[in-house]
Amino acid sequence: MIALRTAKEFELIRRSCHVVGKAHQALKCMVNPGVTTRELDEVAEEAVLSTGAVPAFKGYHGYPATACVSVNEQVVHGIPGDRKLVEGDIVSIDLGAKLGGYFGDQAVTVAVGRADKDVASLMKVTRESLHKGIDGARPGNRLSDISGAVQDWVEEHGFSVVRQFVGHGIGRKLHEDPPVPNYVPVDRNPRLRKGMVLAIEPMVNLGSAEVVVAADGWTASATDGKASAHFEHVVGITDGDPDILTMTEDELGYA
Ligand code: MF3
Ligand code: CO
Repeated sequence: MIALRTAKEFELIRRSCHVVGKAHQALKCMVNPGVTTRELDEVAEEAVLSTGAVPAFKGYHGYPATACVSVNEQVVHGIPGDRKLVEGDIVSIDLGAKLGGYFGDQAVTVAVGRADKDVASLMKVTRESLHKGIDGARPGNRLSDISGAVQDWVEEHGFSVVRQFVGHGIGRKLHEDPPVPNYVPVDRNPRLRKGMVLAIEPMVNLGSAEVVVAADGWTASATDGKASAHFEHVVGITDGDPDILTMTEDELGYA
């Protein structure tokens, strides 16, 4: 069952999304050589708690941190630790929060200094693919209009879409119906309706789509060791244009 949210609920979800959006603003400024992934997590946790929200990932199926911090070939669910970022790394930061009973969730990938040209292109295309998918989030369309738009953009540029992890509905729970794959065909292809709220989150690999999970039970990496990027927004479906609930004013300029 896919929940349909009222306008009032959209605003509550937007508040939670802005908690993570604001935290991301702070984290982006911190991403520099020498910073550890744990320091990013500490700032993320403080940023979330200072708003009265609580981290959504900590304790979720035993996940041990506030943020997921995935470096270079790590695709998602990197556990923050002592690793120091170095010039040329790319770092994907995924963060969720719960406030007033509703969840927000957003992921971005940023470069530490300057990334290689092909890696920078991977990041750009992944971000663009997210926005192609978002543009499909309209009533009357089907889920595959989102998934197919993401996949087409990624594959036209020679990159590959990760299959093992997908986006999701979000609202009263972090992960709700429906799963939102970044590829077609999709298992279930519901028609999209006003009031649905979806976390769309392409994970895109520079090389092969194949992913392996480490012995820690969480860290998912590209099997071929090549770079991977991840961008996520929470999107509400309206009668008109998609409503990007994670969009903060600071980000509007370069969406
Ligand atoms: N951000 C991930 C998602 O969007 C959730 C991370 S799972 C956790 O689905 F266990 F790390 F919380
Ligand atoms: Co998500």
